[in-house]
Amino acid sequence: MVFKLSVALVALAAVASAANYKRVACPDGKNTATHDACCVFFALRDDLQENLFDNTCGEDAVHEVLRLTFHDAIGFSESGVLQGTGADGSMIIFDDIETAFAANNGIDDSVDALSPFLSTHNVTAGDLIQFAGAVGITNCPGAPRLQFLAGRPNATIPASDGTVPEPQNSVDMILARMADAGFSPDELIHLLVSHTIARADHVDPTIQAVPFDTTPFTFDTQIFLEVLLAGTGFPGTAGNVGEVESPLGAQGEMRLQSDFALARDNRTACTWQSMVDNQQLMMHNFFTAMKKMAVIGHNPRDLIDCSEVIPQPVAPLGKPATFPAGTGPQDLQQACPSPFPTLSTDPGPATQIPACPDGSLNIADCPS
Ligand code: HEM
Ligand SMILES: *[C@@H]1O[C@H](CO)[C@@H](O)[C@H](O)[C@H]1NC(C)=O
Ligand SMILES: *[C@@H]1O[C@H](CO)[C@@H](O)[C@H](O)[C@H]1NC(C)=O
Ligand SMILES: *[C@@H]1O[C@H](CO)[C@@H](O)[C@H](O)[C@H]1NC(C)=O
Repeated sequence: MVFKLSVALVALAAVASAANYKRVACPDGKNTATHDACCVFFALRDDLQENLFDNTCGEDAVHEVLRLTFHDAIGFSESGVLQGTGADGSMIIFDDIETAFAANNGIDDSVDALSPFLSTHNVTAGDLIQFAGAVGITNCPGAPRLQFLAGRPNATIPASDGTVPEPQNSVDMILARMADAGFSPDELIHLLVSHTIARADHVDPTIQAVPFDTTPFTFDTQIFLEVLLAGTGFPGTAGNVGEVESPLGAQGEMRLQSDFALARDNRTACTWQSMVDNQQLMMHNFFTAMKKMAVIGHNPRDLIDCSEVIPQPVAPLGKPATFPAGTGPQDLQQACPSPFPTLSTDPGPATQIPACPDGSLNIADCPS
């Protein structure tokens, strides 16, 4: 009896796995998918790439959408002290409420950019946000190909104010907030890989599109090196909340107080330093952390794996990390006792920070 039952179970498992290998033809007549729930994402992918991202790693909208993946997903609280159901699209569905929170300053750009896609593609707001983030970063050289699971129900409640960390928060506060959302200090640093393609519009109100590293359109490890260099000046005005001096203020680089402190705190410094000039480790860490972040509030077993729809990312440029011109090992504020990689220094006089994804230096020259 036991034997017969197990034979039956084996047979059943075989049928199930055969079904997994059978691809379904999508109604579009073009694509096939492992599951019919994935079909809708092919057209959404192409629409986003062509009409929102222009197939580039631009701030408007790849960087902004990546930031949105975090601000939507982190609206969750294990302790129940705060309210929210995680990666649920609440930032779009309750945009009147959530985009008004101080920590979400500027998030309305990405909400406004993505919302129209909901009326032309039959997906939920939470799926749209995480999918768009995963597709968008494939335009950035060196980004990993993220997992994408589909099936997040639409939010029915907004997240409360206070779920999104702010750059002026202490490391204790940030780690406590992340822990309440289920994330370890290491996992936070892995998520902060995202700041490799970031520019601020709202930290210093006098200047816009202020990069956090010298390569804001490349998914490389420069951010981890540059945040460890001694700060010498501000790109704009002094005294902004959440900002500290950067090593390249004159070239327009900005540094967040939170990145500065996390790179030097003994709970996170070694994880931070480990990614300097380690592209593969950085890609792996970001993949794993994003896989977890993208399903906050959901049981992944309730979702359907549609990762096959995510394009192959642009390959890493293969350029080692370098000290920007005028800086060097003497400027390192190393807080982790592990040996630091040996890196060369860019030739002078100054390392230029591109203003556009195509590498041009003048923002007025950016292809539109
Ligand atoms: C301690 C946690 C974090 C803090 C305090 C923080 C803070 C900030 C701040 C203040 C900005 C500038 C916004 C502006 O002025 O326009 C920014 C930009 C950005 N953040 Fe974070 N962030 C954190 C974690 C994350 C995470 C986990 C992600 C994604 C996984 C992320 C992705 C981004 C991106 C892509 C941008 C650039 C947006 C753009 O260029 O338009 N951040 N972050
Ligand atoms: C939209 O998708 C849902 C779930 O995948 C499906 O049940 C529904 O029939 C679809 N609606 C349209 C109009 O295609
Ligand atoms: C989710 O909400 C969006 C935005 O309101 C809407 O367009 C979409 O039809 C909703 N989807 C479902 C399955 O309720
Ligand atoms: C970090 O530093 C603090 C204060 O100097 C110390 O109390 C703590 O034990 C250190 N923690 C680790 C993990 O080294």
